[in-house]
Amino acid sequence: MLHLTPMANRPKSAVRSTPDIEALYSKPLPSTRSGPLYNAFSYPTKISPEAIAVFIATHTRPGSKILDVFGGSGTTGLATLLCDKPTEAMIRMADELGVKPDWGPREAEVYELSTLGSFVAKVLCAPPDPAAFAKAAKRFVAVAEERFGWIYSAEGPDGQPGKIRYTIWSDVLSCHHCGAETSYWDAAVRRDPLCLSDSFECPDCGKDAQVDSCFRVSETYRDPLLGRSLERKKRVPVRIVGTSDAGNWSRDATIGDSETHSRVAGESLPSCAPVAEIEWGDLYRSGYHKGISHLHHFYTPRNFFAVSALWELVSEFPEDVRDALRLLVLSYNSTHSTLMTRVVIKQGMSDFVLTGAQSGVLYVSGLPVEKNVFDGVRRKASSLRKAFESVAGSRSSVRVTNASSESLDLGDESVDYAFTDPPFGDYIPYAEINQLNEFWLGHNTDRAREIIVSGAQGKSVNDYGRMMARVFSEVSRVLKPCGKATVVFHSAKASVWQALAEAYLSAGFSVRATSVLDKIQASFKQVVSTVSVKGDPLLLLVKGDPKGRSVPSSTAEEVADEILRNARTAESPERDPQRLYSRFVSRCLELGLSVHMGAKEFYGRAKTALQD
Ligand SMILES: C[S@@+](CC[C@H](N)C(=O)[O-])C[C@H]1O[C@@H](n2cnc3c(N)ncnc32)[C@H](O)[C@@H]1O
Repeated sequence: MLHLTPMANRPKSAVRSTPDIEALYSKPLPSTRSGPLYNAFSYPTKISPEAIAVFIATHTRPGSKILDVFGGSGTTGLATLLCDKPTEAMIRMADELGVKPDWGPREAEVYELSTLGSFVAKVLCAPPDPAAFAKAAKRFVAVAEERFGWIYSAEGPDGQPGKIRYTIWSDVLSCHHCGAETSYWDAAVRRDPLCLSDSFECPDCGKDAQVDSCFRVSETYRDPLLGRSLERKKRVPVRIVGTSDAGNWSRDATIGDSETHSRVAGESLPSCAPVAEIEWGDLYRSGYHKGISHLHHFYTPRNFFAVSALWELVSEFPEDVRDALRLLVLSYNSTHSTLMTRVVIKQGMSDFVLTGAQSGVLYVSGLPVEKNVFDGVRRKASSLRKAFESVAGSRSSVRVTNASSESLDLGDESVDYAFTDPPFGDYIPYAEINQLNEFWLGHNTDRAREIIVSGAQGKSVNDYGRMMARVFSEVSRVLKPCGKATVVFHSAKASVWQALAEAYLSAGFSVRATSVLDKIQASFKQVVSTVSVKGDPLLLLVKGDPKGRSVPSSTAEEVADEILRNARTAESPERDPQRLYSRFVSRCLELGLSVHMGAKEFYGRAKTALQD
């Protein structure tokens, strides 16, 4: 699928030669969702830094300047650090791809609009001494538990003193026949096999009730932080999972558990606890977000107290580890501390599986989970330590700038190579999601400058394209004449692809090669051989028109048909419709054709073509 035009007589520079680059784009690039750096902080759509490092070290020589204009949580910065500390897995991956990276130190400029992303990037790319951090983090959690561990105290089934690992809460239903209240848990959960039933026998009237026809009960309560009465969804604790000297246990929730919880709710909060109104945007849903107007409504009172206590405690620690401790708290916060934490049913499992918040949305389930924040932060500390260790000692340097990339504070023709994954149209409203962590940092992202397609922000696909064009024009200005940019992008919408293409074309770029990036769950060891699915298109942009490209003789429809024809004899994953759509888009962009077919239309075509 690679279509490279000759790079005739390009000036000798920090940019590498064609054969390696050809090889680089000739196979899908595996990007694992594992490893200490990937797991250090959950940020939607991020790519593994190890995969990006292979790209950087294949495209450039040591000493080069690398740029990411949509830096997110800093993965390109981390990748630049890894270029001087390649892991065995990275070396193996390069071998498998048939490329010879030129490992060594480089300099990275990372631009990111969001307060959260740039904070994460800054801390991860300039980490504290890992051992000093680990020691501080251990004491940090120990002090928190010493002072406030009682908030998670609970008796085990035999009355022995214990500690809550997590509590499952439940919405409350009102029977559509008689109005009697039942927890969603009691109404829907069935065992052997574990499932959620659509109907139940009302314990009050004995009639058959449909879960979806029941009202979700609300209650009026006095919000102590806002000092007024508010309405919220009624939720009750239903299941306590804990541990005692005798081992782990689980049991139904009791009055005693509710009493402990009420006691915590009555405690006064540390002064750092943010009392902040949520800036709702595209993600608000009137059902499960009922009553969530402020940050603390995303938490149980107990977990809001726990996060506040940790946040306050940071200031008692030495200056050089404070930001790393803040990162530690935030890395757990919005993914595990809030009501967005859930239990899910997995095939073949006899009990619920505990999981964190769903990525990219602010979904609150009917069975939210309240995890023990102190336990979670303690566990997270060891993975953060490993992340710090994996980049410590690198001679590369990373500068993170918290600003919009529509204007870069960089000299003309000063950058050798850019690697970036822009926001994918309306796919993830980063500023809206990030606010759950940004309120703790005391400053939210400037949404006016966010590049996004958003009804709530009044930004159309044209606005998105215009802002994106400004960024690509800046990338073009700062890139050396022989510099290149790799862009990872995905959208199911033709209009978003067109906006992206117009943005880079207006900045004088053209597509020189394409490939796909496979985000896979496998461990890094398995990456290259793993049969993977989907794949985001990966575009290599160069300045100017590619030499030797003729006016396209085919149409987008013909390209689609050719790709589908070839797929009939291909092996999985090259028959996967999502993968084929990526291939289709990439091929159109290489040929300079407008992508006017969205994924839905393409999948329809694929269904027919692959069945014939
Ligand atoms: C797909 S994410 C990048 C993820 C990143 N690769 C990582 O490692 O986490 C796109 C990022 O673009 C950022 N962004 C949106 N508008 C921006 C702008 N005008 N300037 C700079 N960054 C922007 C978003 O905040 C988001 O973090």
